[in-house]
Amino acid sequence: MTLHVSSPFPPVAALEQWRARYPKFGAALDRGGSPPSALRYLGLSLWQDGAVPEAVEALEAAAGLAPDDAALLADLGALRSFSGRKADALNAFIASLERDPSRIQVWLGVAGLCNEIGDKDAAENAYVAALELEPASVDACTGLGLIYIERGRFEDAVRLLSGAVARGVESGAVHACLGQSLYLIGRFAEARTALAVAAQAFPGEVTIIRRYAGAAFAAAAIESTVEAAIDAYRAAAGAYAEDTLAACRSAFQALCGFGHGEAALRLGEAILAMVPDDPIIPFHLDALRGRAHERASRGYVAACFDRYAENFDRHLVEILHYRLPETLRTLLEAAGRRFPRILDLGCGTGLSAAGLATVGDELVGVDLSARMLEKAKARNLYARLVEDDAIAFLDANGAPFDLIVALEMIIYLGDLSALFAGAARNLRPGGLFAFSFEAGAGRAHALSPCGRFVHNPTYVEGLWSGNFDCLFAQQTTIRLEANRPVAGRLVLLRKK
Ligand SMILES: C[S@@+](CC[C@H](N)C(=O)[O-])C[C@H]1O[C@@H](n2cnc3c(N)ncnc32)[C@H](O)[C@@H]1O
Repeated sequence: MTLHVSSPFPPVAALEQWRARYPKFGAALDRGGSPPSALRYLGLSLWQDGAVPEAVEALEAAAGLAPDDAALLADLGALRSFSGRKADALNAFIASLERDPSRIQVWLGVAGLCNEIGDKDAAENAYVAALELEPASVDACTGLGLIYIERGRFEDAVRLLSGAVARGVESGAVHACLGQSLYLIGRFAEARTALAVAAQAFPGEVTIIRRYAGAAFAAAAIESTVEAAIDAYRAAAGAYAEDTLAACRSAFQALCGFGHGEAALRLGEAILAMVPDDPIIPFHLDALRGRAHERASRGYVAACFDRYAENFDRHLVEILHYRLPETLRTLLEAAGRRFPRILDLGCGTGLSAAGLATVGDELVGVDLSARMLEKAKARNLYARLVEDDAIAFLDANGAPFDLIVALEMIIYLGDLSALFAGAARNLRPGGLFAFSFEAGAGRAHALSPCGRFVHNPTYVEGLWSGNFDCLFAQQTTIRLEANRPVAGRLVLLRKK
């Protein structure tokens, strides 16, 4: 905990003045109360009457007279927190705990405030301390569970919350957090059970009900037929059901993501029966069946990312923890040179553009998805945006670049020889090529059941060694997939 008591309590006005202002205070003194306890009583009753500033004044005056009274400091913390003075509230709570660490409400107060001000470590520690005092505390379980969920520690959340349920904690909030965590690690049947309790506890809560219905769909799709899964979804979602196709697509993604290949195959075929010309599902079905492809087709990429464009930035950055554009920016800034012409291949919504603009002058973006390009255009950082295939662009382009970037694009290409040859052709000598890829052992490139290409690093290295020197090649977590880190490489090459 980093906060300290920053200012002394205000000087205490003469008790006679308090007596004159508040007959209640005088009466408490006359009943034999000590001045601090009479001020505390006054403060709490003023708070109850809604006179918050006056209540704060009285409790602060009381704390000035009795600075070691842990209960009084706890009240002051609660009141300051209520009046929005978060840092001051924390100071009072911490002072209270230093004097007496056995009050769970004070630990919960600290946890809540630390959470609000973004000090998640301190919040976590405070919830843990609260749970040590009262292992069945619903507030502490849900508070800590939510922090685990927020930090992507779903297994920890499941352990904590299922432990609480096993100890007899009966709370809709605990079941909601547990169900959410179970869903996010792909344990759909258990998620369904927990979320059924939560949905009953919060009958109008759309997010919980939809999550329950999603878990019911995925669990039934694994256990039974697609028809039974759709029925289970509708029964769980009730009035909040989305249209069947949208629900099928969400379940399909969840099943693919968590490796439930057989159920995903059955569902994918059912979706294809509903939409025979769907541009996305056939490629995923091939990926699930282990069929080889040289690359993802232009139509597949464009359809996929047109659909994804609206939520892409939020999903990739907040949910999948995608940080490559920032890492690349740091690398390029450290290189200490300028790049007059930069090509951003598969630029998407332009997540890299801000970083590239700090080291470059003319920024050109190429992407197959028109909707992604619209988002990139809105950043006003690209001199030119071209709706085209990366390889086709490299084949046709005549004006060389000083830096070519391809972040999270190579996963849509299997054979990379045309890309590396094209990059070498389109770079000036000494120009840089920065790219990421998902690394896997085995074949040169393989299509994963999730529909992305994984490349063997030895294969990739073999492609660059003729035309490029390697300046940097780092193993890194590219993003999360099914809430687990995806291992890959970030590479920076220099054209010979
Ligand atoms: C995962 S996004 C990454 C976007 C961006 N590079 C970033 O790091 O935020 C992949 C992007 O590559 C584009 N893409 C995939 N294959 C492509 C290809 N062959 N030619 C052009 N764009 C492609 C997709 O449309 C999508 O916008």
